[in-house]
Amino acid sequence: MTNKFRYFIANWKMFGNLSSLKSIDNVIKYVKSNPKKKFKLIYCPPYTLLQSFHIKLKKTKINLGAQNCHEETNYGPFTGKINSKMIKSLGAKYVIIGHSENRQDGENDSLINKKIISALKNKLSVIFCVGETLSQKRIKLTRKILMKQLSVGLKNVPINSNIIIAYEPVWSIGTGLIPKKLDLSQNIDFIKAQVKKKLKFKNIKIIYGGSVNPNNIAGLNLIDSIDGYLIGGASQSSKKLIDILRKSVI
Ligand code: PGA
Repeated sequence: MTNKFRYFIANWKMFGNLSSLKSIDNVIKYVKSNPKKKFKLIYCPPYTLLQSFHIKLKKTKINLGAQNCHEETNYGPFTGKINSKMIKSLGAKYVIIGHSENRQDGENDSLINKKIISALKNKLSVIFCVGETLSQKRIKLTRKILMKQLSVGLKNVPINSNIIIAYEPVWSIGTGLIPKKLDLSQNIDFIKAQVKKKLKFKNIKIIYGGSVNPNNIAGLNLIDSIDGYLIGGASQSSKKLIDILRKSVI
């Protein structure tokens, strides 16, 4: 275990209702009783729970984020949509954009770019997801895909913006599979080089997501270039989430 500062982003996806709120009590207790540990925890519940989470997390160090947003910066006639201004007004500081589950629903790189710009304008920090599918990996397109997702997604985005990039290989989300250590560290380094050297972004953090759980976290922590984790399934269990935190931060 190293002394590195790490981000832990709990992506609840389309799970949870008001009665699930109680389930985070132990996590709140853990965070409160470990004030010196070097990590930031960000809960991203569904929109329907943002306000309740905000109230519950108010006096804690835990931050709040949403799982997506509409690309319009201002309010407008878009039935069923939620934009970053609304999310910000509920006390959230972060928003996940470009998650592969939304890309599979039709979001392309240029729409994702509009969402990123609009969220930053409304003063949210962005958790920007990139990653290759299994078929792209098989035909060795990973780097090409990552470069395209990064360069289009970050087009015209100010280089000092608050962005965390989540590298999430699509084939590893919800499958229990994680990349081999060498592949993962090379892909993280590739993303870092593209974003920092080529696109000239400053202070960008790169985290990993895809089947992170208490059993594989110690191995993942050996890759020092990873600044944290986007955790789906395991983050809905306080026990698993606390276990992951315990094994990761000093
Ligand atoms: P998982 O999801 O941890 O359940 O694989 C990660 C994600 O989709 O963000």
